[in-house]
Amino acid sequence: MSRGRFITLEGGEGVGKSTQAKALAEALRQRGLDVLVTREPGGSEGAERIRELLLAGADERWGTRAETLLFAAARADHVQKTIAPALESGRWVICDRFTDSSLAYQGGAGGLGIETVRAINVAAVADFFPERTLVLTLDEGGERARARDSGESDRIGGRSDDYHRKVDAAFRIIAAEEPERVQLVDACGAAEQVTQRLLDAIADLLP
Ligand code: TYD
Repeated sequence: MSRGRFITLEGGEGVGKSTQAKALAEALRQRGLDVLVTREPGGSEGAERIRELLLAGADERWGTRAETLLFAAARADHVQKTIAPALESGRWVICDRFTDSSLAYQGGAGGLGIETVRAINVAAVADFFPERTLVLTLDEGGERARARDSGESDRIGGRSDDYHRKVDAAFRIIAAEEPERVQLVDACGAAEQVTQRLLDAIADLLP
């Protein structure tokens, strides 16, 4: 049996990633593929526990280094317990956020630097990187997230507009650095249109 493909969805707050992860999985299932949808932080029992530590409480609860290491610890568990076994059994895996979120949030916006965060993640998961990363982009992303969360953002979603602008800028830098793996996908328009754009961006991977 051949190994499944590992695809991640990325982007700032409120760009519709979770909805699109489900829709993309459904479109792939209609093509006969066995698909697992998972998310970060979380996706395994231990990582879901770390998620609570990361997203609840005051912003000052963790410094950027501790925060980065917690995301990396959650990711190591998620890869070992959930993602790698699924891929080995031939399933495709669509993950809502992965290492690129750490590069953009903790590295780009949090000030640790993309390279330092990359090194921490190599320590956590070695060379376990997605085959394709689709970054959903939406200019008014911040507005949508605020509307969705109605003033109840989590520890990280609730950070300043400046922080979130730096996140968006970092995703664009990452996409420019690795154009084959990382592709920007316009998240404007009807959900079905966005799903079609995502499918187009992985067309070369489809059987
Ligand atoms: P979540 O509720 O899943 O947000 P969203 O719907 O925007 O994906 O919360 C995840 C939050 O954690 C989000 O603000 C992004 C942030 N995050 C990081 O800062 N670094 C990371 O490595 C990951 C995976 C997420």
